[in-house]
Amino acid sequence: MPIYLKKEEVESTVHKAILSKRSMGLVPTMGSLHHGHLSLIEKANKENDIVWVSIFINPTQFNDPNDLSRYPKNLEKDYGLIKNICEKIKIFSPNEKEIYGKTPTLQKYDFKKIDVELEGKHRKNHFNGVATIVSKLLTLIKPNKVYFGEKDYQQTQIIKKLICLENINVNMIICPTVREKNGLALSSRNNFLSNIDRGNSSIIYKSLNLLKSNFINSNLKSLRKNIINDINKKKNFKVEYLEIANAETLQIDEKINPKKQYRAFICVRVNEVRLIDNILLN
Ligand code: PAF
Repeated sequence: MPIYLKKEEVESTVHKAILSKRSMGLVPTMGSLHHGHLSLIEKANKENDIVWVSIFINPTQFNDPNDLSRYPKNLEKDYGLIKNICEKIKIFSPNEKEIYGKTPTLQKYDFKKIDVELEGKHRKNHFNGVATIVSKLLTLIKPNKVYFGEKDYQQTQIIKKLICLENINVNMIICPTVREKNGLALSSRNNFLSNIDRGNSSIIYKSLNLLKSNFINSNLKSLRKNIINDINKKKNFKVEYLEIANAETLQIDEKINPKKQYRAFICVRVNEVRLIDNILLN
């Protein structure tokens, strides 16, 4: 049985683990767990003596109160899913007060502009909110390794910067995106899609692959435009952005530098559901 711990219990368990030199891995989540999360937990399980899974819907990373209030919550189901993985898992599913005290407050960081591109353009302060909670979790749990999925690539770059800025002693492990059979990246938000929309969402990963296979030789501007048009033709679908950006700076370079790595980033709104994905192009 996994153990659910209160903040004070987390502190004393962490203290004991450090004294007895047991390694700890942390998988931070907002719950509503799916196979993407489970793949992170399984990897953490192989690499650590203790695995922490945090489940907390972090209010400071939501710029839209409606998005926050409808974010899926399935604590009992989450506990059940984790229970089947292993005995050494410890769950920390705090309430808002345990994390933030009276009022949730956002810490602001200088992420050298990577927080204002792509997702950051459409979700003001989102990444400051993510960094605020991840910093709190890393400080509390002091894991040796922390695990994130590549689907949220921009988030992983933010955490990388956060770890440097705050000089945190942790190794970040980025794990491959887990997909449905049709290529749709797993996300807690997929639960809101109708069956038809879910089927049609295969166009997102197909489009990323099309950009990848034409990255070197094509006129990327017109290919990008055609892809956006094709996606927007689907009922309920609207591309919020499709960008090719430098994988390190996340800036949209005027000219492709063959010595640098590039990624395509996409966000499609399907009705009210935002689906994001990305792919390495070269
Ligand atoms: O990726 C997520 O689920 C969240 O952004 C995270 C990292 C758990 C912080 O709330």
